Amino acid sequence: MCGIVGYVGPNVPSSRPQGVAMDGLRRLEYRGYDSAGIAVHTGDEIVVRKRAGKLQNLVDAIEADPVPDGVASIGHTRWATHGGPTDVNAHPHVAGDGALAVIHNGIIENFAPLRRELVEDGVEFLSETDTEVVAHLLARAYDGDITAAMLEVVGRLEGAFTLLAQHRDQPGVVVGARRSSPLVVGLGDGENFLGSDVSAFISGTKRAMELSEDQVVTITPTSVDVVGFDGTPATGRTYEVDWDAAAAVKDGFPTFMDKEIHDQPAAVRDTLLGRRDEQGHLVLNELRIDEAVLRQVDKVIIIACGTASYAGHVAKYAIEHWCRIPCEVELASEFRYRDPIVTERTLVVAISQSGETMDTLMAVRHAREQGSKVLAIVNTFGSTIAREADAVLYTHAGPEIAVASTKAFLAQITGCYLLGLYLSQLRGYKYDDEVAGYLEELAAMPDKISTVLDEQQERVRELARSLKDEDSVLFLGRHVGFPVALEGALKLKEIAYIHAEGFAAGELKHGPIALVDEGTPVFIIVPTPRRPVLHQKVISNIQEVRARGARAIVVAEEGDTEVEQFAEFVIRVPRTPTLMMPLVTTVPLQIFASEVAAARGLDVDQPRNLAKSVTVE
Ligand code: M6R
Repeated sequence: MCGIVGYVGPNVPSSRPQGVAMDGLRRLEYRGYDSAGIAVHTGDEIVVRKRAGKLQNLVDAIEADPVPDGVASIGHTRWATHGGPTDVNAHPHVAGDGALAVIHNGIIENFAPLRRELVEDGVEFLSETDTEVVAHLLARAYDGDITAAMLEVVGRLEGAFTLLAQHRDQPGVVVGARRSSPLVVGLGDGENFLGSDVSAFISGTKRAMELSEDQVVTITPTSVDVVGFDGTPATGRTYEVDWDAAAAVKDGFPTFMDKEIHDQPAAVRDTLLGRRDEQGHLVLNELRIDEAVLRQVDKVIIIACGTASYAGHVAKYAIEHWCRIPCEVELASEFRYRDPIVTERTLVVAISQSGETMDTLMAVRHAREQGSKVLAIVNTFGSTIAREADAVLYTHAGPEIAVASTKAFLAQITGCYLLGLYLSQLRGYKYDDEVAGYLEELAAMPDKISTVLDEQQERVRELARSLKDEDSVLFLGRHVGFPVALEGALKLKEIAYIHAEGFAAGELKHGPIALVDEGTPVFIIVPTPRRPVLHQKVISNIQEVRARGARAIVVAEEGDTEVEQFAEFVIRVPRTPTLMMPLVTTVPLQIFASEVAAARGLDVDQPRNLAKSVTVE
C-alpha cells in the first residue's frame, strides 16, 4: 500500500534524480495508484509535482511543466487512506514554506490530536491527510539536521509508517524512518537509494540493505547511516537481489497478470529447487527451528489473507493427511482478536507473497508473544514477516507485479507441501521412499501446468469473451477443489468486478443453490475419477445445478469421460494425484478472469480500489 522511492546522487544537478524517481514509481505503481508525486531537490530548492490518478497523469503534468535537474529526489504512489484521491492529498506534502517535503506509507493513528495541536499553533493545513501532520512536525523540529528532526518526530507518532523526507538546506540528503512498514536501502556507487521494495531501484543497483523495526536511515551519495529510534547506531544486513529489472517487465505479454500466469511452471520448479540432499532426502536448510521442537508440534495454525489463505486451505488437506497433525486455517485479520489457543507446541505458519501484509504481520507478532514458533512461507526476500518469523521457507516465484496473485499462489501451495512432507519425514509418518514419491509428483507439476497453458488457454479465453457480460458466476469444488473454487471466484471479483462466489459443492443445497438461475455459469472443479466416492458426489452436484438451469463449466482430468454428458464446456487438465490437482485446476480460472477483465475493457493489473501489498490493518 503506497510505494516509496528515494534517491541521492552526485552533487552536480542532472536529470537522474527525476529519472530514478519516475522509474521507481513505474515499478511500484502496483502498490497503489490513487495518485503519484515526486519532489526533486535542485540544489537550491525543492520542486514538487503531484497528480491524482494513475502515474500517467503525473507524467503528463511533468511534460506540461518540466522539473529542473537535481541532486536528490523522493517519489510516492498512493493508496488512499486519510483523504480522497485528489491532487491536494497526493504526496509529497510540503511544510515550512516549501523548505521540507515528506512522503509516507502507513497510518499515523494519533494524527487527530497532533493536527489539533498544530492548528492551535497557527499551522494551516492544505490536505486531509495524516501525512501533512508529519510534514509540519518535521518543519517545526528542523534545526539544521533533518535526521535529528526525524528522530524527534518519530517519537511522537503512533501507528505504522515509512517516512522519507528532504530539506532545502541539505540538498544531498534524504532521511527515512520505518515502523511496521517496509523500507529497503539500495547501495549504489556514488549514489544511494531507498524504496518500499527492491523493485524501486532494481535498475540502479542490485545491492540492498535490510532495515529493522524502528530505525532511521540517512542517505547521501557516499554514505548510509542507520540509527534506532533511540539514536543508537545500527547496521543492516546487506544482500544481493537475485533477480534483475528484466524479471519485472511484461516480456511481450499484454499484462503482468498474463505474464505471471505463464511464469507458473518456473515458479513451482524454482520453489522445488535444491530441496533434496544426495540421498534424495528432503532438506529444508533455511528452517531455523530446532528439529526437536518441530517433532513436538501438536497443532498447526496457518494464518494468511486473500489468495494466500486459500493456499493455506489447500495445504490443510495435505498437512493433516501426511503428518496427522490437526491443522487450522485462519484469516490473519481475525486471528489475534479471538483469543486463539496457541501454545509452545503450536506451529503457526504465516503465508504471504509480499511478506509485508499488515494483518499477517500482526498475527505473527501475536503468535510469537503467545510463545509459539512462527514459520513464514514468503516470496519477498528480506521482507518484514520473513525477518520477524522464527523460520522462513522462501517461495521462488520471482517478483509478482499484478495485483491479482497468480504465480505466488501456486508457489505457496508448493512451499506448504514441502513443509508438510518435511514434517511427516521428521516425525516418521512417511517413509523416505514415500516422501521421495510425493516429491517426484511435485516435480512433474511444472510440465503439467505448461500443458494446461498450451492446450486450454485459447479455449478458455474464448469462453471468457462469451461470458464477459454475466452478472454472476459461481464456482464449486470439494476437498482441495473447494479452495480452488474460492480462488477462482476471488480472481473474477477482483479484476473483472463480477459478482462471484466459491462454495464447497456439498454446501450448495444448504442455501446457495437458490442463486442458480436459468443460464447462470457455474464452474465445477471435478476431482479425479480415481477417487470414485468424491468424484461421484461432484457429478451429483453438477446434476443438481443443471437441473436448475445452470450452464455447467467443468474442470476435469483428461480421460474423465463421465463428466462430458453433464457439462456444457469441459476444460481438461492432465492426470494428476488428488492433492496436486490445485496446481493445475487453478490455472484455467486465472486465465478466465484475466480474459473477462480484458474483454470488459478493465485494467487487469491494477483493479480499482486495490493495492498489491496491503500494509494497513
Ligand atoms: O502479500 P500477501 O500474500 O500477504 O497478500 C495477501 C492478499 O492481500 C493477496 O493474496 C490478495 O488477496 C490478492 N490480491 C489476491 O489476488
